[in-house]
Amino acid sequence: MRKPFIAGNWKMFKTYAEAGEFVAQVREGLEALTAKVDVAFCAPFVAIPAVAEAVQGTHIGVGAQNMYFEEQGAYTGEISAAMLTPFCQYVILGHSERRGYFGETDEGVNKKAHAALAHGLTPIICVGESLVQNEAGVTVDFVSAQVEAALAGLSAEQAASCVIAYEPIWAIGTGKSATADDANRTMGTAVREVVAKLYGAETAEAIRLQYGGSVKPSNIAEYMAMPNIDGALVGGASLQPDFVELVRQAVG
Ligand code: PGA
Repeated sequence: MRKPFIAGNWKMFKTYAEAGEFVAQVREGLEALTAKVDVAFCAPFVAIPAVAEAVQGTHIGVGAQNMYFEEQGAYTGEISAAMLTPFCQYVILGHSERRGYFGETDEGVNKKAHAALAHGLTPIICVGESLVQNEAGVTVDFVSAQVEAALAGLSAEQAASCVIAYEPIWAIGTGKSATADDANRTMGTAVREVVAKLYGAETAEAIRLQYGGSVKPSNIAEYMAMPNIDGALVGGASLQPDFVELVRQAVG
């Protein structure tokens, strides 16, 4: 049985003060749901300590939106896994905005996954095709390759502990979401079956898969009803107090 997992990806929103205030506002409502669903906020680096403090005494998780794979060194502007572990349990890796705007590659995402796991952080690995790829009918090949590259060299146990977020790029922040059926089909063939091929059925059954892209309180239930969808990575809708309602709808 995979426990549902809803993660908020705040992107470049909320200051330290705003983060603390927001979490204080939603924490009771979310905490009441955490027996049924894992919940986490992935905040901007400097807001992470505020989130970590605000969730103390609850089961709400904390995540980062990126990290670097090296242990330490002369990497101006970067943050290591060890710098995150006092505050975070999760780290988003390879979000399409990082791939698209900041040149992240499959190889870098894989190195980051190894480094995150070595430090006990759960990677939320993002994959997903562009509109052009979608229309060209290459979604399954492209996403399968992203999954395979991201997991390269991980043990079955490590792979099982990862979360993979399927986010079609054309559905992120656009209000256009993939239909639950389409998302479920792609996540089955391009993610879960690829994990099964690489590691076997047991690992494929254990790994949690999130859908992401314009998820909101009114559509989350449709996604959660799908067998291959175990949760969601939520951008815009995780910035508002009705994120609590979204999480409530996720677990019915
Ligand atoms: P959105 O973003 O929910 O605002 O579409 C999702 C994401 O990019 O993780």
